[in-house]
Parts: sequence; structure tokens; C-alpha cells
Amino acid sequence: MNLANKLCIVTGANSGIGKETVREFARQGAYVVMVCRNEERARKAKEELVADTGHSGLEIMLADLALQHDIRELAQNITEKFDHIDILVNNAGIMADEREETIEGIEKTLAINHLAPFLLTNLLLDHLEKAPDARVVNVSSEVHRMGARNFDIDNLQLKENYSPTRAYGVSKLCNIMFTHELAKRTKDTSITTFSLHPGVVRTQLAEDASWMMKFFYWIGSPFMRSPKSGAATSVYLATADNVISQNGKYFRNKKESNPAAIAYDDELTTQLWEKSAALTGLS
Ligand SMILES: NC(=O)c1ccc[n+]([C@@H]2O[C@H](COP(=O)([O-])OP(=O)(O)OC[C@H]3O[C@@H](n4cnc5c(N)ncnc54)[C@H](OP(=O)(O)O)[C@@H]3O)[C@@H](O)[C@H]2O)c1
Repeated sequence: MNLANKLCIVTGANSGIGKETVREFARQGAYVVMVCRNEERARKAKEELVADTGHSGLEIMLADLALQHDIRELAQNITEKFDHIDILVNNAGIMADEREETIEGIEKTLAINHLAPFLLTNLLLDHLEKAPDARVVNVSSEVHRMGARNFDIDNLQLKENYSPTRAYGVSKLCNIMFTHELAKRTKDTSITTFSLHPGVVRTQLAEDASWMMKFFYWIGSPFMRSPKSGAATSVYLATADNVISQNGKYFRNKKESNPAAIAYDDELTTQLWEKSAALTGLS
């Protein structure tokens, strides 16, 4: 796909994998909306990317993706300003260190990592459908396999048996299940969608995580991928022509990979869609 003048939306765009995804889109001439929660961090990232790429087609839109109110406002701003969307990369994510609920009463990891991409994508679907070859790319993780162990569709918010790793794993499993279900629901449209594991990448992700996860990231950091390498599969899935036939699939290192079996279980993915719609006020 030639990205010149394509409209791309990237969440979590000021840091790590998201920032490098924006850099590559900008290098290829796309107009990129950088969705960020902190104005200062967003401005710094944008200035760096404009200076490095010489491309000025970058715009910041602020939203705290933990809050559905902010996501609705963000979607409204996007749909009022643009008449279509070519690429949406749902990249923003967190690793928490304890169970916390948002002011809207939803477990925070699920809210940011799964419900935010679910709600934002749904609110932007009409605009995505207007693009001739629209892509929705959802950044998941191999840690989804931990979420798949004893997965309980009735305990998505882990009101029982919470652990930070389990919450992260469940949310990343939801990314793959959502992608699978979205592909089914949009199969007669111009939209294709993919999920991916970016590799183990040297970023800020573990900064607010448990001490164990921080320690793992600290000790493993010299062996981890650069954020640029971590962005490669997101960019590939957003732009390659030869992936369309793999609509709805999970990727690693630019290749299709088998996720945990339940991630493609049609009955469960439909149930997850319905539960997510209820939790986000879409049903
Ligand atoms: N790093 C890895 O090894 C790895 C492995 C597998 C999957 N992933 C996935 O890759 C994605 C990107 O993570 P990363 O490694 O690049 O980490 P990162 O450097 O921490 O980037 C995460 C981005 O998400 C943003 N974000 C977090 N909470 C937000 C909220 N409530 N509203 C809006 N934006 C929010 C952050 O903004 P702030 O800067 O303001 O916090 C930041 O821009 C995540 O989905 C993560 O699960 C990463």
C-alpha cells in the first residue's frame, strides 16, 4: 500500500512501539493522528518525529483511553474532521501492578487494553468502511497464553483471582479474540484486521508493572528488541498487499502464527463481543 496521503490513527503514539509505528508511517508520507493521553509527552514525540522524518503531517489528539467518555469524544473529533480512515493501529497498552477500577467502574487493564480498542474501532467503523483498503491492527502479546489458561468469560474484570500478569494476559487474549470476531463481522466490507505479537521490546511498558515484571524487563533489557524492530510487524500488517487473505489472523515476525486455541473459538469470540458491547454501552 502506498501511504502517501493515507490517514492513519495510532494510539499510544508518543512512546515505544507506537512512536516507531508513527515514524515509519510518517517516513512513507502518511497523515498520522497520534492519539496520546499526555500533552507534554505527545508534543515532545511529535517534535522529534517531525525533525527526524522532515514530514509535518502529524497531528496530536488527546484522550485517556481508560475512559469511555474520552474515547467517544476522540471518535467524534476524528469523524468530524476526516471523511474516511485508512489505517487504525490499536497499540496503547499498560501493565498494571495492582487491581484498580477506572472512575467508570471498570478494571483498568481490561479498560485500556481491550475495551478501548473495541469501542474506538466500533465508533470508527463507518469511516473505515469508506476507505478502499482499510486496516485495523491490534497489538496483542504472546502473554495472551497466560490469559487463556482457565479463561473465564464471566470473570473478564478478574473480580476473583486477580493477578497483574493474568489481567494483562486476559486483555491480550481479548485483542486476538476481538480481531477474529471483527474479521467475521466485516467480511463483506473493505476492512481487514490483524492481531500481532511485536516481540519482547525495550520500552516503558513495565514502568508501572509489578516489581517482578520490572525486574524481568531490567534484567532482560540488553537482549530485547529495539522499538523500531517491535514496530515492524504492525507496519507490515497495516501496509502489505499480500496479507488480505489472512484476515482476522494473529502474527509474529510478519508471519501468521497459531494463538492459544480458544482465541479463535467462534462461540467464545461472539460472547466476548456481546459482553464488550454491554460494557461499553454499544448494546
Ligand atoms: N514491550 C513489549 O515487550 C511488548 C510485548 C508484547 C506486546 N506489547 C504491546 O505493545 C503495545 C505498546 O507498548 P510498548 O511496549 O510500546 O509500551 P510503552 O512504551 O509503555 O507505550 C505504551 C503507550 O500507550 C500509552 N497509554 C497507556 N495508557 C494509556 C491511556 N490510558 N490512554 C492513552 N494512552 C495510553 C502510553 O502513553 P504514556 O506515555 O502517556 O504512558 C504509551 O504511549 C502495548 O499494547 C503492549 O501490550 C509490548
